[in-house]
Amino acid sequence: MPIAITGTGLFTPPYSISNDELVAAFNAYVEAENAKNADAIARGEKKALEPSSAEFITSASGIGRRYVMDRTGILDPEILAPRIPERTNDQHSIQCEMALAAAREALAQANTTADRLGAVIVACSNMQRSYPAISVEVQDALGAKGFAFDMNVACSSATFGINVARDLIAAGSVKSALVVSPEICTGHLNFRDRESHFIFGDACTAVVVEDAETTRAPSFYEILGTRLATKFSNNIRNNAGFLNRTAPERRDDADKLFVQQGRKVFKDVSPMVADLVSGHLDSVGIAPTSIKRMWLHQANGTMNQWIARKVLGRDATEAEAPSVLEEYANTSSCGSIITFHKNRDGIEDGDVGVICSFGAGYSVGSVIVKKATRPS
Ligand code: COA
Repeated sequence: MPIAITGTGLFTPPYSISNDELVAAFNAYVEAENAKNADAIARGEKKALEPSSAEFITSASGIGRRYVMDRTGILDPEILAPRIPERTNDQHSIQCEMALAAAREALAQANTTADRLGAVIVACSNMQRSYPAISVEVQDALGAKGFAFDMNVACSSATFGINVARDLIAAGSVKSALVVSPEICTGHLNFRDRESHFIFGDACTAVVVEDAETTRAPSFYEILGTRLATKFSNNIRNNAGFLNRTAPERRDDADKLFVQQGRKVFKDVSPMVADLVSGHLDSVGIAPTSIKRMWLHQANGTMNQWIARKVLGRDATEAEAPSVLEEYANTSSCGSIITFHKNRDGIEDGDVGVICSFGAGYSVGSVIVKKATRPS
C-alpha cells in the first residue's frame, strides 16, 4: 500500500533576534559578571568570561538569526532566558497552540480535516509537562478521532514520528496520522553559555501522513522507505527531569539545560548520517546521483555540505541541499521539515528526495520520498 506525506505546515513565532542583538545581550552579561568578580579575577581565583561574536556565529554555524516565543527575557542581560507566563489548565498550553497553527496548515494542504485523522503524534525534544500528553490536548483541540501520544527522540523526533505514522498505516491501525513538533528550544538553551547561546530558535512543524490510495490531496510525496538509527552518546545532553527536585542542591546547574561538545558531535554524527542515507538509498534501489533534493537537519551549514558531498559524490548546489539556518537557526526536530516545507519548488512528479534529521542520542532518521500527483 503506498503511504505518503500529503501535507506539511509551519508555525513561525512572531519575534526574531539577530546575531548582533543576541551577542550584545550576552556581552553585557559578561561585562557585568567580570566587573562583579574583578577582584577574584585579578587574584587569579576566577577566570574572566570571554565575549561572544556575531562573526564567529555566522562563520562557525551559518546561523544569522532565530525566531523566538519571547524576545524580551532573552535580550535582558539580567535574565537571558525567555519569559513565558504560565497558563491556567482551561487554556490551551503554549505547545498546543503552536501545534494547532502548524496542524491546520498541514491539514489544509492535504485537503483533509481533523476528523479524518486516526492518530496525533506530538514528536519533539521537550514537552512542557509529563501528562496529560500534549498530543491528547492537540487531538481534542483539533477534533481528531482515534488516539494520540507524545514521543521524544530529540532532533530526530519528526522523522522518527513519520516512521511510526507510516508503520501504523501499513499495519492497518489507522488511515492517516498527524506528526507535530512544537519546539520551544529557547526554553532549554543556556543563554549564558558562549559555546552554545546562539544555536537554537523556536518553531513548530506538522506533517500529515496518509494512505495514498484514499488521500484527497491533489499531490503528495510517497514514502519509499524510512530508516532509523541510534547510538548512545553523552555529547549532547540535558539532565532536566522530574527527579531534579529530589537532588535540590544541583537543580539549577548548567547540565539541567542543553549542553553539547559541538566539535565532537560534528565529527561523530556527519559520517553516521552519510553512511545511513547512502545505505538507505541503496536498499530501495535509488542511485545517489538521481536524488533531486536533500532536506537535511539544520544544525550547521558546513556539516550539511559535508554530508551532501559524501552522499552525492560531489558538492551539492544550494537547490539540492537547501538551508533555512540563516533565518531559523537550529529548531531541533523542525529543521528538516521546515526545509522540506519551504523548498519544494522545482520538484516534479517522479523526482526523489531525502528528508533526514540527526542529533542527540545520537539519533538519525531518513525518509526517502517520491513526488506524485493523485490520478483524477
Ligand atoms: N564567540 C566567539 N568565539 C567563540 C564562541 C563565540 N560564541 N564560541 C566559541 N568560540 C571560540 C572558542 O573559544 C574556540 O577558540 P580557540 O580556537 O581559541 O580555542 C573557537 O571559537 C572554536 O570553538 P569551537 O567550539 O571548537 O567551534 P566550532 O567551530 O566547533 O563551532 C559549533 C561550534 C557548535 C557551531 C559547531 O561545533 C557545530 O555546529 N557542531 C555540530 C553541532 C550539532 O550538530 N549539534 C546537534 C545539536 S541538536
